[in-house]
Amino acid sequence: MPTDRTAQWWRHAVVYQVYVRSFADGNGDGTGDIAGLRSRLPYLQRLGVDAIWVNPWYRSPLADGGYDVADYREIDERFGTTADAVDFIADARDHGIRVLVDLVPNHTSSEHRWFREAIAAPAGSAARQRYHFLDGRGDGGLPPNDWKSVFGGSAWTRVEDGQWYLHLFDESQPDLNWEHPQVVQEFDDVMRFWLDRGAAGFRIDVAHGLAKAPGYPDAGRDVNDGKATLDPVPYLDRDEIHPIVRRWRRVVDEYGDRMLVAEAWVDAARRPLYLRPDEYHQAFDFDLLSTHWSAAEFEAIIAESIRSAAAVGSDPTWVLSNHDVVRHATRYGLPADIDPSRWLLDGPHELLDEARGRRRARAAALLTFALPGSTYLYQGDELGLPEAWRLPTEVLQDPIWEDSGHTVKGRDGCRVPIPWEADGPSLGFGAVEGWLPQPPEFRTLAAAVQADDPDSTLVLYRRALRLRRDRLVGETGFDVLDLGRDVIAFRRGAGFTCVVNMGDDAIELPAGEVVLTSGPVDGVLLPPDTTAWLAS
Ligand code: GLC
Repeated sequence: MPTDRTAQWWRHAVVYQVYVRSFADGNGDGTGDIAGLRSRLPYLQRLGVDAIWVNPWYRSPLADGGYDVADYREIDERFGTTADAVDFIADARDHGIRVLVDLVPNHTSSEHRWFREAIAAPAGSAARQRYHFLDGRGDGGLPPNDWKSVFGGSAWTRVEDGQWYLHLFDESQPDLNWEHPQVVQEFDDVMRFWLDRGAAGFRIDVAHGLAKAPGYPDAGRDVNDGKATLDPVPYLDRDEIHPIVRRWRRVVDEYGDRMLVAEAWVDAARRPLYLRPDEYHQAFDFDLLSTHWSAAEFEAIIAESIRSAAAVGSDPTWVLSNHDVVRHATRYGLPADIDPSRWLLDGPHELLDEARGRRRARAAALLTFALPGSTYLYQGDELGLPEAWRLPTEVLQDPIWEDSGHTVKGRDGCRVPIPWEADGPSLGFGAVEGWLPQPPEFRTLAAAVQADDPDSTLVLYRRALRLRRDRLVGETGFDVLDLGRDVIAFRRGAGFTCVVNMGDDAIELPAGEVVLTSGPVDGVLLPPDTTAWLAS
């Protein structure tokens, strides 16, 4: 039964993530843009998504794909104009699609006016207080502490007069000082700027950043040591973050049904802190991004996410892929003991079983679409796109490649332009070659090739999202069924059952009419790596 939860649209929304640079190139310069994105609104409407989250589209040197913002109120000219963005938001709304804007408050670009002023001003000046400028250790020639950048190397860069500034990411992304009142005020204003122009809310970048420990104590460890955020470091997931979030929430609440979703790479046990009723509406559940194809692991994450979100009156927010990780169609084709992001460079590449990855990716999609809560899909998921893992290192643009000293290949392989057609210089992405080369297998996966093929991933997604909308929106029931060790099975209310076979042998389906499957099914036998939806 629908409940008043349906009024809070984000609780059950299917949100489609657009990496605008790689989605559709409207003006034929090899870079995706707002005109291209706008021309594809009918496609997204037909796919059945409720909202779009657009990765940063602001004026930027694109040193980190736009997560280095030079002006938060202006669109980069490669993507269009601010007027184009406003028209696009309105047009999307006419297609029944809301638009979430990506906000990057942890750092600016080094091309931002504030940072230019800071560099031009002397040590100790007011202009430097908006960032973290410190003197070095020893005679000043050593960084102020041992903090490491998430992209590799020290988190400090020295400027001409000898001071150092902090950047948790690339040196072109100086961290803002969130204790400075102008910084706080500026982001209230930027939020209002986009809310006034129709934005449905914000995806907040590095929501676990922002606050740094007073006195900048040594971390005692490298943030990239593989322990992720489980061990606290003095610059991530600090309690001082939460008053900032409450302030944003008050701004957003002034506008009615707008929302905030946090990109917070934190331990699952800490995630509910971000989801308290006066903080974020959603926080991405990233646990599935690093989970092996194992029913036990998936089940544990699903149970914990549902439980911990409910404890603070929220719902889970499922994610299988995004612009920062190896696409799941490739991840699921690799053996469990392989780290996919290292495998990109180090291989061995012959370990990849592409067909298995594709099967599992389809099964995983039907699983997440059937779960309670909201789900985010990344552009190209609906085409079953694999990671473009063969990209030659000469074409790489991700700053991780340089910052890691060529030890981590980075995220370009999931950012390759979308194939829309089987032909053309960039497979319908635009009139010329795209900013990254597309792998040969993209040709057969193009949207136009899949559009009318009943067995295609695109048609599967369309059907699944339609069924989800008809049957599951507003349904709060979730009851786990025990169908064996390698099977995930649950009922949603009285009439809907989802069964995922993650084992090596076919299993017998429970009673009910099969309404959708992620792959071929033999009578009542559900093959491995396959999901079935049943009505009863
Ligand atoms: C987030 C973004 C990522 C970016 C980083 C720095 O993790 O998703 O793409 O590189 O923040 O802004």
